[in-house]
Amino acid sequence: MKQQPLLSVRKLCVDYITENGDVRAVNSVSFDIAPGEVFGLAGESGCGKSTVAFSVARLHKPPAYISGGEILFKGENILGFDDERLRSYRWRQASVVFQSAMNALNPVLRMEEQFCDVLQAHNPGLTRYEAIKRAQELLAIVDIHPSRLKDYPHQFSGGMRQRLVIAIAMALNPELLIMDEPTTALDVVVQREILQKVYALKEKFNFSILFITHDLSLMVEFCDRIGIMYAGELVEVAPSKAILTAPLHPYTRGLGNSFPPLHGPKTVLEGIPGTPLNLLEVPVGCRFQARCAKVHDRCRQEYTALAEIRPGQQTACHLYADGLGDEQASDPLIFAKAAGC
Ligand SMILES: Nc1ncnc2c1ncn2[C@@H]1O[C@H](COP(=O)(O)OP(=O)(O)OP(=O)(O)O)[C@@H](O)[C@H]1O
Ligand SMILES: [Mg+2]
Repeated sequence: MKQQPLLSVRKLCVDYITENGDVRAVNSVSFDIAPGEVFGLAGESGCGKSTVAFSVARLHKPPAYISGGEILFKGENILGFDDERLRSYRWRQASVVFQSAMNALNPVLRMEEQFCDVLQAHNPGLTRYEAIKRAQELLAIVDIHPSRLKDYPHQFSGGMRQRLVIAIAMALNPELLIMDEPTTALDVVVQREILQKVYALKEKFNFSILFITHDLSLMVEFCDRIGIMYAGELVEVAPSKAILTAPLHPYTRGLGNSFPPLHGPKTVLEGIPGTPLNLLEVPVGCRFQARCAKVHDRCRQEYTALAEIRPGQQTACHLYADGLGDEQASDPLIFAKAAGC
């Protein structure tokens, strides 16, 4: 029997109210995350990754509103949660580390206070002594000496601050950790170290991760499956390896080929011609049509939803339904070729 997903996002639509009318930033997005799975969302800036993450955490606020769909966490629709249920959902079930979260630590409070605030707010019975003990354990799991609980945020390096934020997010043993560009502000070595740490914690505590980054090469390394977003829609969902070696959607290929390979000879990057779509001017048919080298008539006329093309690999692209995608689907990305995949 198929395992029940931990998280199931079903036809999620999120709109922003703007002076120029409502903008649909997320359009009919559906994906599942299994228990213990790392699922990544990638795509160019503005494609809707953070909007999805905020919605899954139920942290979206005006001018954003959820205009359609469901977000099921262990089968319960979180969009129907009242304030009390939301409080237990956040932190205990789903916890978040957002873009530049390390700047969100309170600069005038010692770390001890910040850990105890979270722990005691969610466990009213917990004594101060017990909260400090738990905070020390949390520091240890991110490799920071427990004595440093007495320090203020500015006394830590950027990488350490980001690990502190991750430790706070882990305080209540969440089942889903949402990480939106958790390491973008850090150098590449520290970035990888932190992600390795998070991955080791995931292996130990078996939580799931929704991981968001622009960096597709980092993503394929850490994720089991990846969803590629373009202009508010998911255009491909596939196991990480398939994204590298046999991406189906022309946009996935373009995004993947915009990254320089770390190994092998120098290559000319392909990039993606054109600019991202203005969401106020969404065309009929496929949203990627103006930038797609493989565009054909049907792409300008008909919307296409995600469909499974290979086992476990879905794409929203007319090429496959029209039998035009074979050549495209067997060509690995430039950096995958360089890495010998
Ligand atoms: N407060 C807002 N008001 C109006 N539109 C917004 C607002 N916040 C985001 N948007 C729009 O929603 C779309 C999706 O934004 P989102 O922040 O989710 O993108 P993203 O994929 O996370 O980008 P990045 O990689 O830059 O973080 C964008 O077109 C953005 O302009
Ligand atoms: Mg974002």
